[in-house]
Amino acid sequence: MENGSANVLIVDDNIQNIELLEAILLSRGYHVHKAYNGEDALKMVDKMLPHIILLDVMMPGIDGYEVCKRIKHGEKTRFIPVIMLTALNGLDDKIKGIEAGADDFLAKPFQKPELIARVKSLIKLRNLIVELDSAQNVIYSLALALDFNDPYTHGHSQRVSDMSARLAEFMGLSQNEQQIIRHAGVLHDIGKIATDKKVLHKPASLDKIEYNHVKEHPVIGEKICSPLNFAKPVLPIIRWHHEHFNGSGYPDGLAGSNIPLGARILSVVDVYDALTSARPYRQGLLPDKALEIINTEACKGYWDANVVKPFIDMLKTDSASSNA
Ligand SMILES: [Fe+2]
Repeated sequence: MENGSANVLIVDDNIQNIELLEAILLSRGYHVHKAYNGEDALKMVDKMLPHIILLDVMMPGIDGYEVCKRIKHGEKTRFIPVIMLTALNGLDDKIKGIEAGADDFLAKPFQKPELIARVKSLIKLRNLIVELDSAQNVIYSLALALDFNDPYTHGHSQRVSDMSARLAEFMGLSQNEQQIIRHAGVLHDIGKIATDKKVLHKPASLDKIEYNHVKEHPVIGEKICSPLNFAKPVLPIIRWHHEHFNGSGYPDGLAGSNIPLGARILSVVDVYDALTSARPYRQGLLPDKALEIINTEACKGYWDANVVKPFIDMLKTDSASSNA
C-alpha cells in the first residue's frame, strides 16, 4: 500500500505533539486523523479502522493503556498496530504498554526517521495480517456456504460454533480456548465437501460402505484446514469431533481425556443440534427429549459426563432467563 492511502490516527491531549507528528506524517503522504482524548479515540477507531494508531500514554479520562487494551480486545480492531508514545526513560511505561498489547514504542522527543521507519514497517505487517485474515475468511465462507446450501443441516455449523463457544465460556475455559472452539464449530464438518451428496442426504439408514464413506469427513476436514496457520489449534477438534468418551468413536477410537476437551465439548453440542434439527427421515426432537437421550448416552459412556452436566445446566439457565 502506498503511504497516500494509509490512515494514521494520532491520539494525544497535547496539541503541540499532535502537530509535530502530523507535520512529519503529512510530509510522507499519510492521511492523518486526530483525537485529543481516549473516549474520542475509541469512537474514531471503531468507525474508521485506521491502519495504525500513535497513542499517548498520559491523557485525562481513559488513559493510553486502557485505550490500547480495548483496541486489542475488539474483534474488528485487534489487528490495528498501536505505537505508544512514551517518555525517554519510560521503562515502566513500556512494561505497562506491553501488558496492554502495544506493538511498538516511540520515545519523546520524536526522531523523524525512527517514526517513519516504525510506522512503515508496522503498516506492512498489518497488511500481511489482513491478507492472512482474508485466507481465513475464504475457508470460513466455504464452510458456511456448504452448510447453508445443505437443505438438511441448514446453519448447523454456525449453531454448533455459537453454542460450543458459549458452553466453553460457561465451563470457565479461557477466551483463547473459547475462540478455538468457535472456529472449530464452523469448520468441523468441512470435510463433508468430499462426501457423496446422495449418501449425505439418503432418506434411510446407510449401509456399511456408505457409513464408512461418511466417516471419512473428519480426516478430510483436517487435511483441508492443515495448511492454514490460524486453523492449527483447531485441527485436533476437527479430527476428533466424532470420538466417543468410551473409545467407540472414529477415526482413531480415542477415549477419555485423550480426546481433547474442545472435541468433547463440540461433540455434545454437535449431537444436540443434530437431534433437535429435522432430518430427511425424521422431525427434530424437542430440546428436553434430546437432552434426555444425550444424558442416557453419557451414562453409557458415549459422552463426557463432565461436559454433559454443564451443558444441561447452561440450557436450563437459558430457558429460565428467557421465561423470566
Ligand atoms: Fe461431523
